[in-house]
Amino acid sequence: MATRKVVLKEDPILRKQSRTVTKFDERLWELLDDMAETMYADEGVGLAAVQVASLKRAIVVAIQDGRGITELINAEITHREGTQYEIEGCLSIPGEYYETIRPEKITVEYDDRYGEHHVEDAEGFRAVCYCHEIDHTNGILFLDRLNPEPHDREELEERARKRRAEKQPTVK
Ligand code: NI
Repeated sequence: MATRKVVLKEDPILRKQSRTVTKFDERLWELLDDMAETMYADEGVGLAAVQVASLKRAIVVAIQDGRGITELINAEITHREGTQYEIEGCLSIPGEYYETIRPEKITVEYDDRYGEHHVEDAEGFRAVCYCHEIDHTNGILFLDRLNPEPHDREELEERARKRRAEKQPTVK
């Protein structure tokens, strides 16, 4: 395993569509392992392959809810429900944190690293993370999802502080 260089906001690759993964082989596993190491090194809670300059539809997510790391290959959101607001950041956009609008609940379909298909319902912060990372695979950044009428910043920052105190950093 090795860390890889995270591409930054200005890099046009971040606006490209990632491609469907068809080979669930050692090259993919190495990419996923490197993505996890890179995410942990940068204290992120999620990373998409495009952020390490690979246009594969591959995502890693690790939020502090006891589940450990989740790998999502070829992830698609098939159902969205409700609305939530979250202050998001991104490892490719360091130092910028803004309030976004996201669905409260989603259904996501994805393959795991062995090509096995999964259907999962997610809500709350996990849903935010999935949405953020799946957006990356479609060339979309959280800056495209900003709430035009943000809530009281202090209130949201208090929530973010609490989350950090629980060692659950703001979504990357
Ligand atoms: Ni991001």
